[in-house]
Order: sequence, then structure tokens, then C-alpha cells
Amino acid sequence: MNSGVGDMSYAENSTIQIGDPFKQKMIASFAKTARQEAAVDSFRAAICPTKMTIADLGCSVGPNVLQMASEIFEAIEQASHQLNRKPPEMQVFLNDLPGNDFNTLFSLLPEFHKLRERKLQESEQEQVHCFISGVPGSFYGRLFVSKSLHFAYSSSSLHWLSQVPQMQLQDGSEVPLNNKGNIYISHASPPSVFEAHKKQFKRDFSLFLKCRGEEVVEGSHMVLTFVARRSSDPSTPPMGCYMWELLAKALMDMASLGLIEEEKVDSFNLPWYEPSMEELKDEITIQGLFSIKKIELFEVNWDDNSQEAPRNDHNYNPMAKSAQTMAKTVRAALESMLKSHFGEAVIEKLFERYCFLLEEFYSKNKSEFTNILIVLARK
Ligand SMILES: C[S@@+](CC[C@H](N)C(=O)[O-])C[C@H]1O[C@@H](n2cnc3c(N)ncnc32)[C@H](O)[C@@H]1O
Repeated sequence: MNSGVGDMSYAENSTIQIGDPFKQKMIASFAKTARQEAAVDSFRAAICPTKMTIADLGCSVGPNVLQMASEIFEAIEQASHQLNRKPPEMQVFLNDLPGNDFNTLFSLLPEFHKLRERKLQESEQEQVHCFISGVPGSFYGRLFVSKSLHFAYSSSSLHWLSQVPQMQLQDGSEVPLNNKGNIYISHASPPSVFEAHKKQFKRDFSLFLKCRGEEVVEGSHMVLTFVARRSSDPSTPPMGCYMWELLAKALMDMASLGLIEEEKVDSFNLPWYEPSMEELKDEITIQGLFSIKKIELFEVNWDDNSQEAPRNDHNYNPMAKSAQTMAKTVRAALESMLKSHFGEAVIEKLFERYCFLLEEFYSKNKSEFTNILIVLARK
């Protein structure tokens, strides 16, 4: 994710994850109630502990992080009040990869603590005391002490794989994917590309479950949301991969203009996978550490329907606005990866082209993509 707070940063381009108050279909808002309920269930299951430890896995750096933590505090405060208990002290671990811009994230903390302090003074109800720290590392490995977490959640992160999938040959050796002109599973990809992605996801997700299984206490809960697919066939619409097909097309257009080498496009693949609900259920069952309390697919859209068309602006084009939002979000997420593979010089033109293709796509198609919400309880 792009660091800092500039125009192209993740912090400024993560509205789809949290949305504004009017965008009920946004990912984090959709999962808010599930997160709050599961946090309270974890609190009760631990017989209302005086200290509670929670973790945000793949937190990134935007305002979403502290908003999600606040919502959990509120739910725990309310539950404590109803149970006539003192709210617990809460340790919050914010996890992301070591390259995440933790400095920008930490710089938001003084203001956050100041606001909470004010709330503490103004409120008649007792408030949670929170202690927030960063945990750099991959969630596809151990991050926390055994049996130390009471609640964990992850929003919009688990579709990222630990590495670009490789194709396995019959002798067991692994070679790069043969996915000419594409950067993810597309209609034109050979079946081996799908198999390689599915296998990598299975490996990663099972490791994720195994590690969290060791770190959480019995009766604790996890709430996960990430991009998923409705169809069993990974290349059949409706699915979110149009955004990668169009980015691949933008790259190939650049190659046909001689601005980048076609071989560079052929060798670029995303460490990304959108699993189906069945694949997820199978993996959770095989691991056997968690029971599924809730699993549901939901749609998120990029439409600019939160804003009315600016008055008297006859040129206002909501499709162009959706395309710009999507292009900026993808840029915030992928810019560093694209720069290191294709070079910095092509980035501006690439995203101009991508934005144009997205606008064209949105003029004929809905700007929706599918996500999944999973609530798990440690057995
Ligand atoms: C789209 S952001 C989501 C951020 C935030 N949770 C939200 O809802 O706005 C995805 C985040 O997942 C992080 N991520 C990806 N793979 C990860 C891994 N293996 N371990 C920890 N974080 C990871 C990325 O670095 C990125 O910050």
C-alpha cells in the first residue's frame, strides 16, 4: 500500500473499505455489527476478563484502523455496562507487513488518545482503557504469544497471497506461471493458472488458521472479510477480476505502443486470489480448529451514489467518478509493485489508460464486486 497521507496514499484512498456514513454497502460498515457482536461474545466467553487483547490483521494505515478499534471499544463498554462490570483494559495489536507505514499510523495515535480522554471525562459510563501497539510481520506466520488473543479481525486483506503462485511440474519442481498477457486468472488463462492460485491460497489460508488457532484463547472469535467469488468457475462473471483484466489490458496497450516490453507483462502476476464460499468452508473444516458461526457473501459497489450530482454541473459524470475512485484505489495498493517491475516512468500513463478502460466498462456494467464475511469461533 502507498504510504503517507498524499493524494495517492492508501490512507486517502480506502473509502471502499470503510465508506462514508451514507454508503451502507461498504465493506467495513457491512461487517461492523458482526465485529461488535463477535467481540462481545469473546468477552463473555472469557468470563468478562479484566484485560482483553485484540488484533487487527492487515491493518494498513488509513483512518479505518482506529475507527474499527473504536467501534469494538464501544461494544465492549456497552456490554460491560449491561453486565454491571468495569470495562476491561484493552491491548490492541495492529498488524501489517513490515513495509507498512506504521509511522503515519502511529502519528494518528496522540489525537486518538486525546479524543478518548475527553470522552472519558465527559461520559458518565466507564470507558475502556486502551493500549495500542504495532506488530510488523506476516499473518501467514505466528505473530502473538500462545493463547493470548481474545478477539481478532481482518478486513480486506486475506485475498493477498504470501507470494505469486507458481506452477508445479510433475517432478515437483516449481516454475513461473504461463499466463501470457494476463496478470490474474482470466478467461484466457490455462487451467494450470487457476490450479496454482487455488493451491497457494489453500496453503496460505490453512497456515493462517493454524497460527491463529494457537494464538487465540478458547471461545474467542475471529471476523474476516475479503474479496471472494460467487461462481465455482473462477473466470465466470460476476466476479471482481474485471479490475485485473482491465489492468492487464492497459498494460498490453502500453506494450503495443512500445512503452513497455510484452514479456514484462507476461511475467507479471498478482499474489491475489478470490476464493469461493465452498473452498473456504472446506479449508476451515479440514483445519478443524474453528467452527463457522456465520458465512455470507455480499456485494460492494464503486458507484459514486453517496454524492448528488453537483448542482448545475451538466458535465458531471458518475461513471467517470467511479472509474477515478477505482483507479486511485488500485494505484494506492499496487503502485510500488508495478514500479519495481515496469519502472516508474510508465505509471502515470498506465493509470490514465486504466481509468479510461474502467469508465468504458462502467458505462455497460455495474461497478460491484463480491466480498465474504466469516465469523469463526475457536473450538
Ligand atoms: C486493502 S488493505 C486493508 C487495510 C484495512 N484493514 C482496511 O480495511 O482498510 C490490505 C492490507 O493487508 C496487508 N497484508 C497483505 N498481506 C499481508 C500479510 N501476509 N500479513 C500482514 N498484512 C498483510 C497489506 O500490507 C495491506 O496493508
